[in-house]
Amino acid sequence: MAKDPVRVLVTGAAGQIGYALVPMIARGVMLGPDQPVILHMLDIEPAAEALNGVKMELIDAAFPLLRGVVATTDVAEACKGVNIAVMVGGFPRKEGMERKDVMSKNVSIYKAQAAALEQHAAPDCKVLVVANPANTNALILKEFAPSIPDKNITCLTRLDHNRALGQISERLNVHVSEVKNVIIWGNHSSTQYPDVNHASVITTNGAEKSVKDAIANDDWLETEFITTVQQRGAAIIKARKLSSALSAASAACDHIRDWVLGTLKGTWVSMGVYSDGSYGIQPGIIYSFPVTCEKGQWSIVQGLKVDEFSRDKMDATAKELMEEKSLAYSCLN
Ligand code: NAD
Ligand code: LMR
Repeated sequence: MAKDPVRVLVTGAAGQIGYALVPMIARGVMLGPDQPVILHMLDIEPAAEALNGVKMELIDAAFPLLRGVVATTDVAEACKGVNIAVMVGGFPRKEGMERKDVMSKNVSIYKAQAAALEQHAAPDCKVLVVANPANTNALILKEFAPSIPDKNITCLTRLDHNRALGQISERLNVHVSEVKNVIIWGNHSSTQYPDVNHASVITTNGAEKSVKDAIANDDWLETEFITTVQQRGAAIIKARKLSSALSAASAACDHIRDWVLGTLKGTWVSMGVYSDGSYGIQPGIIYSFPVTCEKGQWSIVQGLKVDEFSRDKMDATAKELMEEKSLAYSCLN
């Protein structure tokens, strides 16, 4: 029997991530090849004509899974009945800017859109915040949408996770699918901590080996690997004069797909979620943890050993998130 369509909201849909993301959703990359979708696309008035152009292209692409398109500048209409909300709308960071620089513009958008989601979205709506500062925007959305369960509000650190897998696969000259269980701890910012202490790789003879053993002969994992992943967003902006878009859209699909359909056995992924105090990270911030997903629910992987090097880095990125939180509140007051 054909499945009922799922309503997926993409805010900022006329922007560059939106343009990469909506065809992926319409092709089944996010929710699977047998899941029909209705796309809800929101943007602001100055982008209304461009948004309509995206709608025209979606119609022209004749996607078999696409059962409808709502393209609007009305936030209430956009949020009506949505089951999944991918929040991309906002102002991107330009060359030379830190994520904190886009804070005041973006947190007020997230406060306003929290209310619209709360009133109009489906009660079980799953929310993914992509727009920067992603963790803090997600926190503001959570605080101003108290009736949405905390567990339904997340932010994107899967791009950082995928970047870490990509760097290791390049270094070891193995396919990226043969590397697993890296962790991104903390903020989607240059203080994030890409951790390989529990990561493994399938070697050419088919055996599983720890990444630390596979890259044992130099200090690359403790130095350049970490800074490359932390600074990758800035490197893309420098190269493209625009922030990452196709990789961000692809990571957003990975995040929702794994959340809804489940993670692979023996594998975890990184998601920005509301801290429950795991690993000594204070509640009250949206922090990236290793998670597994089953039946539409994520849970933080427990019991991983944390050494002193990791502890310092995990705490430093938590501290930045606490600072961002107070800055966000001062912008809203
Ligand atoms: P963009 O400027 O191309 O697109 C943003 C879109 O949002 C524009 O069309 C704009 O009109 C729209 N917009 C602005 N205010 C809005 C509002 N109130 N409601 C709805 N739409 C609104 O930017 P982009 O390159 O697509 O990036 C979008 C966001 O994603 C940025 O904040 C960027 O920094 C962030 N980003 C996050 C990650 C991540 O991994 N978390 C990765 C890449 C980019
Ligand atoms: C990224 O990581 O590519 C984005 O968050 C863009 C940025 O500002 O770094």
